[in-house]
Amino acid sequence: MFGNWFSCRELFEIFSLYQPFLTPKLINRQPAKPISNSIPHLCKAMISIQVDNEVEVRQLTPKDAQPLYKLVEANRSFLGEWMPWVAETKSAVDTGNFIQRETDRYIEGKAIAGGIWYNGELCGTCGFNRIDSNHLQTEIGYWLNEPLQGRGIVSRACQGLINFGFQTFKILRVEIRCLEGNFRSQAIAERLGFKLEGVLRNAEIRHDGIPHNLLIFGLLREEWRVQIWRRTEEDSIT
Ligand SMILES: CC(C)(COP(=O)(O)OP(=O)(O)OC[C@H]1O[C@@H](n2cnc3c(N)ncnc32)[C@H](O)[C@@H]1OP(=O)(O)O)[C@@H](O)C(=O)NCCC(=O)NCCS
Repeated sequence: MFGNWFSCRELFEIFSLYQPFLTPKLINRQPAKPISNSIPHLCKAMISIQVDNEVEVRQLTPKDAQPLYKLVEANRSFLGEWMPWVAETKSAVDTGNFIQRETDRYIEGKAIAGGIWYNGELCGTCGFNRIDSNHLQTEIGYWLNEPLQGRGIVSRACQGLINFGFQTFKILRVEIRCLEGNFRSQAIAERLGFKLEGVLRNAEIRHDGIPHNLLIFGLLREEWRVQIWRRTEEDSIT
C-alpha cells in the first residue's frame, strides 16, 4: 500500500545527502545573536558595593596608591608565589600607574579594579581583570592581606562583585582562573558555586620557573539565578 512512500531509512539517507546544502540556509534563518556594547556606557560612575556591615568593594582611585603599595610590600613573598606582577611592583608609583591604567580601561568598559575594605581598612583587591562587552563575559581576580585570611572577606567581596556584574552589566558568564595548587583560591571558586570547566596544561610559568597548569572555573548567569533563588527560599524558611 505504501510502496511509493520512502522508508525512514531512505528519508534519513536523502536528508544526509542534502544536509550540507540545507544547513547553511537553516543557520542563516537564525536570528542574529544580540551583541551588547552597553557596558562601556555604564562605566561612568565610581563603583562602590557595600557587601555587608564589614566588607566593601570600591573602585581604586589614585589616592589608594600609597596604602595599596604598602600592602603589596608587606605581602611580597606571600603574593609573589601566585601573582607574577608582584615582582614588577617596586614603588607606589608603579601601583599608581596600575590604578591609572585600570581607570582608563574602566572608562572603555574593559575592567574594574576594586579594592576591598574590611571594617574601613583597605586589605586587598577584588576586580574584573577583563570584561568582554561583546560576549558579556568577565574574569574575576583577587588577593588579600595574609593575616586576614580565613574570615571569608574575599568570598564575600567576590559575591558582591559577581552580583553587581550579573545585575548591572547583564554579564552571562564569570570566570576564575587559578594555578593548580593554589588551594585557597580554588576553594573560593568552589565556595561561590563555580564549576571547574577545564585545565590549561603548562599554561603559566611560576616565579620558580616551573610551568603550572591553569584551572578554569566558570559561573553562568542561570546558575547564579538559581543560587539567588535558593538563598531567598532559605531566608523565607528561617
Ligand atoms: C586566595 C586568597 C584571597 C584566599 O583567602 P581566604 O581568606 O582563604 O579566602 P576568604 O576570604 O574567602 O576566606 C575563606 C575562609 O574564611 C572562612 N569564612 C569565615 N566566614 C566566612 C563567610 N562569611 N563566608 C565565606 N567564608 C567564610 C571560610 O570557611 C574559609 O575558611 P578556611 O580558611 O578555614 O578554609 C588568599 O589566600 C590570597 O590572597 N592568596 C594570594 C593571592 C592569590 O593567590 N590570589 C588568587 C590568584 S588566582
